[in-house]
This record gives sequence, structure tokens and C-alpha cells, in this order.
Amino acid sequence: MKHSFGSDNHSAIAPEILEAIATANQGFEVAYGEDPYTAKAEEIFRDMFGPDTSAFFVFNGTGANILCLKAMTNTFNSILCPETAHINVDECGAPEKLTGCKLIPLSQINGKVNATVVRKELKGFGFQHHSQPKVLSISQPTELGTLYTKNEIQELAGLMHSVGGYLHIDGSRISNAAAAMKLPIREFTSDCGVDALSFGGTKNGLMIGEAVVFFRKELAENFLYLRKQASQLYSKNRFIAAQFITFLSSGLNIKLASRSNEMAQYLYSQLKSIPAVIIARPVQTNAVFALIPREISDKLREKHYFYTWDEESGEVRWMCSFNTKKEDIDLFIRDLKEITK
Ligand SMILES: Cc1ncc(COP(=O)(O)O)c(C=O)c1O
Repeated sequence: MKHSFGSDNHSAIAPEILEAIATANQGFEVAYGEDPYTAKAEEIFRDMFGPDTSAFFVFNGTGANILCLKAMTNTFNSILCPETAHINVDECGAPEKLTGCKLIPLSQINGKVNATVVRKELKGFGFQHHSQPKVLSISQPTELGTLYTKNEIQELAGLMHSVGGYLHIDGSRISNAAAAMKLPIREFTSDCGVDALSFGGTKNGLMIGEAVVFFRKELAENFLYLRKQASQLYSKNRFIAAQFITFLSSGLNIKLASRSNEMAQYLYSQLKSIPAVIIARPVQTNAVFALIPREISDKLREKHYFYTWDEESGEVRWMCSFNTKKEDIDLFIRDLKEITK
């Protein structure tokens, strides 16, 4: 396929990442993360977030989310999240299965929850018949491409801490958030009181690999065992670590995420002049959500790959990647104009 707006997972591997794998591809190293590449990558995370940070590498975003949640809960806890959260909609019930917790989906606006909505569900503490609320999980950026502000994150973290709970961020696109907010990731995560972060790589140019990052020592205590039990321990971990070293030590993560964000802004700017297209969500990172008549999206799909996000309303999602090119968007807009004229 020449190009796809279906997902940033449809993109290739960034050449710098492939090179990092090739460079690590010599000689022998001890397996299961006991190699110098893993030690170096862990150190980079400590440099980014502070000395109390623990980073662990896993295969995928679902694994990172589930394991963050597992480390923060007991089976009798509940996990609050926006109804649109990936953990609620797109993980096939794995968070419930692996944590044993009840997931409580909350109403949201453009993928975001606010403190009022969360506060209403922080109840039943000490009541033996009620799941005990423990974690709020939000995504930054959200599944709808929107962003929480630093203040909003801080408020949600404070709220969870006030009841002895935790705030988890699903950051499968966390570098896109940082690029859009023009802030170091630390400023809107650990500095705001976030306790655990699923740190994404694959959607932003890595071949494979995500990181589970804890900002409290106690959450990391038994993590090695939890990861092994969940089959998320990679024997040749040096190849995940080598990717993260290149990704994070030279600002490559921000460079790649900036490109995909810029492409989404360019797409957005071009769509504004097409009356049949209604932009459905604020375009803040690398996704554009739009409402278009079904007959138009059906025709457009004959030439371009993208998903209908909401079958009921017909809302579609166009996702840009680090290797989306301006010409891909120009061609897409030309075809869309042709269909709608
Ligand atoms: C917000 C979000 N979180 C987590 C994931 C899970 O990632 P994976 O498919 O690598 O398990 C995705 C994947 O699309 C996602 O969009």
C-alpha cells in the first residue's frame, strides 16, 4: 500500500530505528533484559523523569496498559476510564481478565473526562459489597486525538491521590502529545503527579516495543514477575532497548511525532475548504475526525485506506504517521474534491 490514513500502526519503521537494530545486531548479549542496552535505556528514562523512575520494556501497548494497571490494583479494585478508552473498547476485555478488576467507563467529551465525572464514581470505600476504586486511566493524547492540559492532569492526579488511588496514562502516542504541547513529557506526567505511564513507541516509528514507566518505587516492586506471567518478557530485549536509546537520546521521538502532527494540521487545513466535510473533534495531534456523508466515504475508500470510527454517526478517522507525505494528502484532497463536486 502506498499510503494509509487507517492508523499510525500502518506506517513503516523509521530508518534510524532500523539502523539502531542493525547496530545492536552483533555478537552475544545476556538475554531477558540483563544486557547493557537495556541498562542504558533504563538510565535514559531515569534521566527523563527522575531517579525514582523505573522503566520496563514490553511488546505492545495493550501489554503496557494491562501491566501498569495490574501493578496498581488488587482483584477487588475498580479502574475508572473514559468510555472511549482503548482499555475499555479495544483490548478485548484483557484489562478485566488480567487484573480481575471491574472497569468503570465514564462519560467523556472528545475523549476526555473531568474531575466532576470522576468524583461521582469515587464511592463505596470500605463497603464490602462494592469494588474499591483505585485507578483512573486516561489517555494522552486521547483516542480522539485531543489533549489534556497540565492543570487538568494535575487535578485528576490530586483527586485520585486524595482517595489513596493512582493516575495512569495510556501514552501510546505520548510523544505526539509532547510535540503538540511543546513540553517535555515529564512536565505533564510525573511532574503533575501521574503514577504510571504506558510509553508508546510502535505508533511513532519503532519496529516493536513500548515501555511501562512507574514514578513510584512501590509500583515497580513485583513488576518483573508480573511481566513474566503476562508473557511480555522478551528474551532478546537488547533489540527493544536499542530502539528506545536511539528514539529518546537524540529527540527522534519528538521529531517523528512532530511530523505526524504537522501532517494532520495540513490535512485539517485542506479539509476546511470542502463543505461536505465537518470536522468532528479538535485537531490537536495526529488524527483528524470528520463527519462526511456515507456515500462519499464509501467512494473515497475505494482509493484511500481509512476507518469509520463510529458506525452509527458515520464519523471517520484519518490518522497521519511520521511518514505521511504532503503529496499523500494532496492526492487524498484531490480525490475527495472530485467526489464531492
Ligand atoms: C490509545 C491506545 N492505547 C493502546 C493501544 C494498544 O496498542 P497495541 O495495539 O500495540 O496493543 C492503542 C492501539 O491502537 C491505542 O490507540
